[in-house]
Amino acid sequence: MTATDTTSPAFVGGSKRHLMGGQWRASVSGLEFDTENPSTARAIARLARGGAADVDLAVKEARRAFEGEWSRWTPYQRQRLILHVHDQLEKHFDELALIETLDMGAPLAGTKGLKDRMSKTLLFYASQTNACTTETLSNSLPGTYMTLGHKAPIGVVGGIVPWNAPLIGQLWIIGAALATGCTVVLKPAEDASLSILRTAELLLEAGVPPGVINVVTGYGPEAGAALAEHRDVDRIAFTGSIETARQIVAASAVNVKRLQLELGGKSPDIVFADANLDLAVPGAAMGVYTNSGQVCVAGSRLFVQRAIQREFVDRLKEFSRSLRIGNGLDPQVQLGPLISQRQLDRVTKYVDLGNREGARLAVGGGRLGGDLAQGYFFEPTVFTDVRNDMTIAREEIFGPVISVIPFDDIDEVIRLANDTPYGLAGGVWTRSAATAHLVSRGIKAGTIWVNSYGLLDPAVGFGGCKMSGYGWKGGAEHIEGFLYRKVVYMNLTPD
Ligand code: NAI
Ligand code: MG
Repeated sequence: MTATDTTSPAFVGGSKRHLMGGQWRASVSGLEFDTENPSTARAIARLARGGAADVDLAVKEARRAFEGEWSRWTPYQRQRLILHVHDQLEKHFDELALIETLDMGAPLAGTKGLKDRMSKTLLFYASQTNACTTETLSNSLPGTYMTLGHKAPIGVVGGIVPWNAPLIGQLWIIGAALATGCTVVLKPAEDASLSILRTAELLLEAGVPPGVINVVTGYGPEAGAALAEHRDVDRIAFTGSIETARQIVAASAVNVKRLQLELGGKSPDIVFADANLDLAVPGAAMGVYTNSGQVCVAGSRLFVQRAIQREFVDRLKEFSRSLRIGNGLDPQVQLGPLISQRQLDRVTKYVDLGNREGARLAVGGGRLGGDLAQGYFFEPTVFTDVRNDMTIAREEIFGPVISVIPFDDIDEVIRLANDTPYGLAGGVWTRSAATAHLVSRGIKAGTIWVNSYGLLDPAVGFGGCKMSGYGWKGGAEHIEGFLYRKVVYMNLTPD
């Protein structure tokens, strides 16, 4: 028996169903598929394989709930509900973190650490339940006219969630929907649906009314596509690949759905010669290696000023070799596996391309063997002598692979940093406030970190530009995306 078998919570195992209108239902087709633990490549549960018929049932339930009793809940009732949800998830967080680790591989030390993020995310949304407002607007009409501005919930929101952080990723959508009075159909990623399904059970227990949050599991081109195409879905919140986003954008045309798209990147992280390397080396390295590189904001183009190139790379190599990789159930482990064979093949392909295009492999570069051979483990990998026009510096790898690109001065590095189709994030390491300011103003991206990397605060919000997508998660702007505006012209003297 493995560690996995002895530590699985009761929830992991067996066959799971969709959640629709508060009921757990098998797929109309009766089909199922396996979800595996990427540390062992063994199946850990069976998921219902949803298709268009299942999505349609879930959307009908979401619509019914949107128009029913839920629409009469007051902001204070919704606030209280979010606080109940918060307490329920907090109480069960260790179990949720363990499910996440078993299903997608991230080390337990990290997933347990997400409790604080979960808490802040829900507390932020609990503070936003007065966002549906009515105000008097000034006008230049005859004095008997009053103009009112309303903000009201947009309706049914489809949430298409990726596998790299499903437990937290779903909360932005659930939180904003509960804050505004929308309803949701979530489509988790086929590789990691279990933490979302367990959360859904806990939401029902916390008093979320039936139909407000629904979950349809299944493959992207089946369940995901059906949700994106559905005519009665008002908005899609999507995080994932640019290829899939293009299909969602096209599908949204059937009813001109609103979209919020967060599509990863090829973020520049820039280390100047005056940086504090004790901070910058681990900071920049973990800016890529966190979650084994499967992070949208990964600072995977690491620009290092030429004067400190040698010292920086030596320290980066040493740091990379020091990381403990393995099954995330081991509390000492810092990096888990990649999510799937597909992702392992993808990362391997990029490392081959880097070698072929003339980058120098400084450390790592391969799959891990020995005890870890059965899982999808990949070594922390550093390429040096990378040019910004090489494929490994242009395309998102989504694995623990760093491309070190040398530069000489500020103007050059800003130009190189912006020479990318993406615009999600970036980082600057320097002791000079002027350098930090110039570079952070110069980089076209949604988030810039100075002397740190990867922090997110739900109240601040987060999003991208260029091919990294549009619309914000978190912050007041996110809430706006769950609302529509209406103005009313009232003639107060109808006679
Ligand atoms: P993906 O974009 O296909 O998957 C994300 C979600 O979209 C999943 O729930 C999937 O089932 C769904 N989906 C897939 N096809 C769909 C369709 N036609 N219509 C509607 N929904 C659909 O990403 P995938 O294939 O898992 O990963 C490939 C690459 O995408 C990664 O290597 C990475 O570069 C990028 N990615 C970026 C993420 C981010 O956080 N920005 C998250 C996941 C992947
Ligand atoms: Mg899995």
